[in-house]
Amino acid sequence: MMRAHPWRGIVAEYRDQLPLPPDVPAITLLEGNTPLCPALRAGGDNPLYLKVEGSNPTGSFKDRGMTVAVTAAVAQGARFLVCASTGNTSASAAAFAARAGMPALVVVPAGEGAVARGKLAQAVAAGARVVMVRGNFDQALAAVRDLVTRRPDAALVNSVNPLRLEGQKTGAFEVVEQLGDAPDWLCIPVGNAGNISAYWMGFCAYYTQGRALRRPRLLGVQAAGAAPLVEGRWIDQPKTIASAIRIGHPASADLAKSSVVESKGHFLAVSDEQILEAYRFLSVREGVFCEPASAASLAGFWEAQRTGWIAPGESCVCVLTGTGLKDPERALAVADSPVEADPTAEDLLRALPPALQG
Ligand code: F0G
Repeated sequence: MMRAHPWRGIVAEYRDQLPLPPDVPAITLLEGNTPLCPALRAGGDNPLYLKVEGSNPTGSFKDRGMTVAVTAAVAQGARFLVCASTGNTSASAAAFAARAGMPALVVVPAGEGAVARGKLAQAVAAGARVVMVRGNFDQALAAVRDLVTRRPDAALVNSVNPLRLEGQKTGAFEVVEQLGDAPDWLCIPVGNAGNISAYWMGFCAYYTQGRALRRPRLLGVQAAGAAPLVEGRWIDQPKTIASAIRIGHPASADLAKSSVVESKGHFLAVSDEQILEAYRFLSVREGVFCEPASAASLAGFWEAQRTGWIAPGESCVCVLTGTGLKDPERALAVADSPVEADPTAEDLLRALPPALQG
């Protein structure tokens, strides 16, 4: 879509699609308008596009929903924001709270590897009160849901807040605008199951309005140790290296299930090994650095290609939900280590790979 003005952020660009009063001032970091990058090598026999949500201001798709939720919270006179998070929601909530001049209480699971360091750094840098609870994400979310029943002056900005999904549905709008129509398939990682539901809302809205001629089938991808929607049962102790989607009781499970059924889509699980393979491929072969949870979408796409869910030639979009910079430890652990050398041309030439020697 051609615009005669510079990008103004989700609330201003999509105001007519959002349930906000027309005159509320937007709390925005100019989120949205992220690249839809054609994959050069990952698609095989399928045209494949990567929706690079790591290009949002705090490095994840959460900003699309946060701008809408925080805009409404300010308009309604909330005194502080609160959320539970595996990291990205807390980074986004903290930044938008700072933007709004409002305090934020963010609650994350405690423990080694529970939250990627970059996300924690973002939340504390923005001045949020960060609480690490002795429990997992699902327990943290239950606690903050209880908290807001006691404090009407708090705004809960998790995706159980319907305005979060309203904002996140704009990811689907952009995909349609960038491709000219919906793709055959949308492959997306599923944790608390909000984003897949939001994308479906967005595709349905554009279809109903005649802005898209069709709707995609949804491929919801979960990590094998945290796959309640694949296994059809809650997982009390979810396990996966993809900490962003280490969730066993997704709050939007029902919405996600009905979205996938309506789209004639599918949920599938991928192992941590498959996730890391896709994670490395995206960096090394496509030049797109995302976090492990995001790479689950490509791992799921490959699995669906292999098992025949996705047919050759069908067009696909993988949503890469967050940037790789969120989790530098993981990046350094899976890649080749840097080497040391003296500052001479000879030493540097020795560091070239064998194929380039001589
Ligand atoms: N990818 C990333 C990078 C995420 O941070 C999340 C969720 C998801 C995918 C899954 O999205 O929950 O809507 O199904 N992160 C939340 C958080 C839970 O607290 O940052 P979902």
